[in-house]
Amino acid sequence: RPSAPAGRGPENHPAPDARDTTASLENLLNETRSFPPSPEFAAQANAQPELYEEARADRLAFWARQANDLVTWQTPFTETLDWSQAPVARWFADGTLNAAYNAVDRHVEAGLGDRVAIHFEGEPGDTRTVTYAELQRDVSRAANALAALGVETGDRVVIYLPMVVEAVVAMLACARIGAPHSVVFGGFSADALRSRIADAEAKLVITADGGYRRGAASALKPAVDEALAPKDGAEPTTVEHVLVVRRTGQDTAWTEGRDVWWHDALEAADTTHTPVWVEAEHPLFILYTSGTTGKPKGILHTTGGYLTQAAYTHRNVFDLKADTDVYWCTADIGWVTGHSYVVYGPLLNGATQVIYEGTPDSPHQGRWWEIVEKYRVSILYTAPTAIRACMKWGEEIPAKFDLSSLRVLGSVGEPSNPEAWTGYRRVIGGDRTPIVDTWWQTETGAIMISPLPGVTAAKPGSAQVPLPGIVADVVDDEARSVPNGGGGYLVLSEPWPSMLRGIWGDLERFKDTYWSRFPGIYFAGDGAKKDEDGDIWLLGRVDDVMNVSGHRLSTTEIESALVSHEIVAEAAVVGASDDLTGQAVVAFVILRGEHAGRASDADGAAAVQTELRNHVAKEIGPIAKPKRILVVPELPKTRSGKIMRRLLRDVAENRTVGDATTLADSSVMELISAGLQKPSSSDD
Ligand code: WTA
Repeated sequence: RPSAPAGRGPENHPAPDARDTTASLENLLNETRSFPPSPEFAAQANAQPELYEEARADRLAFWARQANDLVTWQTPFTETLDWSQAPVARWFADGTLNAAYNAVDRHVEAGLGDRVAIHFEGEPGDTRTVTYAELQRDVSRAANALAALGVETGDRVVIYLPMVVEAVVAMLACARIGAPHSVVFGGFSADALRSRIADAEAKLVITADGGYRRGAASALKPAVDEALAPKDGAEPTTVEHVLVVRRTGQDTAWTEGRDVWWHDALEAADTTHTPVWVEAEHPLFILYTSGTTGKPKGILHTTGGYLTQAAYTHRNVFDLKADTDVYWCTADIGWVTGHSYVVYGPLLNGATQVIYEGTPDSPHQGRWWEIVEKYRVSILYTAPTAIRACMKWGEEIPAKFDLSSLRVLGSVGEPSNPEAWTGYRRVIGGDRTPIVDTWWQTETGAIMISPLPGVTAAKPGSAQVPLPGIVADVVDDEARSVPNGGGGYLVLSEPWPSMLRGIWGDLERFKDTYWSRFPGIYFAGDGAKKDEDGDIWLLGRVDDVMNVSGHRLSTTEIESALVSHEIVAEAAVVGASDDLTGQAVVAFVILRGEHAGRASDADGAAAVQTELRNHVAKEIGPIAKPKRILVVPELPKTRSGKIMRRLLRDVAENRTVGDATTLADSSVMELISAGLQKPSSSDD
């Protein structure tokens, strides 16, 4: 078993371990069925096997061709890659372009102004259809409005919106004037929003009065007001204006002089706007994601390389035929999937897509399938968690709808267990559609490892092969490529166009986080295995990052949130496997002396759990709430004081506790196991 990343004790970082995963993987490899593409699909597919040959023959020439074919440049580039300042890459660096022009205007110029860009479906059932020509007018207006509010090229804009058309317009308007956007997921709390606004030193925030979720209007702007309010010990905010989209019409507190209604600003603005041509390496966006420390990292992406790979992957992995397909990616724009596969990838390719505001079960558990039927969706991209939930609700629900329009299904965000994969194909794909299991990260910007529909014979549960142009490997502790059948760490051995260019404001952390474990090679943080054919199987994170429903959460960040509560003395958080959400957050806490008695009976323990879960929701957001919180007398620690999370995972997953001989006090685990109440599960 490979051990953990440098400088971190193996006791804290059980390596590509997941004993269970490995065991089930072994079974699976023995009986793997593969699903070869149908000859009809293969004949029509955008991606042909020669793509691999072309990229292998001359990788940089391959990427230069993609950049020229898929992106319109204002000034053509002459150099493809400058890697002289590694690990900060420069792709197509002397070219100039504009992201919004590429996503919108050039399609209108090509005579496609009447093509639908977005079919919007609100949760209450309201709908809106936006053509590329309308999108061009809205984006131009919004760009003029931002400029009128003093936003200049290079200024940062934070976007905190529900899944509405304005979210796409806002991102593109920022891109149009060269102001990097930083989208913060609407499920994050005011505190999380405040720290992101501060780190990005944003000049403006775009939000909404609220949005619709689970059948009710929920408020969004109060979190912005709270995030911008003066706070003891905090620097004053850099935000000058807040643009507010009216979505629900609910009463909204107003700060005169600072707050501006989106519709007022757009009405007053001109409908034409000349895009600001920026250099290929101009920052396009910052997106915060959880790392192994408490502080979220602002992942920086730039323009030319990012757009090239977003468009290339969207076209080839989903086999997009822009004039006939209806594409739907269910991700929220608050995550990287929403950036690359709701906004930039599809729009660059001139796709028609569905955007849905709400949850899959509102007002009924067939809502998604109703939407597929209604819009004749042909390409669907979602997360395994959603598929597992759908299977749990019952196959008879999707069976009620006509899903025959679907022709490609995609999955992202977490290892897709073979059962979910085969269920997805059978129940949703009518035993007909290819499935692409796409591996990538916020940091990689776009899909890296995935089957190509029409080319690859798909294996349920495996992302399989690096895309043409991408070089990935599984290596051991010494960075040696493992043989087929072996396991180790997933690395990316060559730079790629949409790679992150850094962590906002922290070059050292960027180098340290991704490039120090194996010098000169990007370490993704995931464990992986190669099967006998050399195909790659992802095994989950090998660091302190958890993956809950495809969302990245940091154990350290949740621990910090817990110990910031007055009754908590110490906390340790682990990700425990969960049938539905992949992993679930389980916290072990020691209460402060004077509060220690509070959890001595079941009612007390339940009350403590509720209080602490709400506290985490306030500090980070509801998505980070632990599913279970166990009050314990001690935590298992090594002699050097490191918490042995491996043992806590054993407890959380109801397994026999593993080797505890390196504990400073070996009786601790007995204490913990003996003292545990029967774990109560969460209420949501
Ligand atoms: C995990 C989401 C297995 C992985 C695009 C990665 C996956 C993290 C897959 C990135 C997949 C993503 N199979 N695991 N197909 N896709 N992951 O930054 O652990 O939110 O490191 O990007 O999700 O999460 P992020």
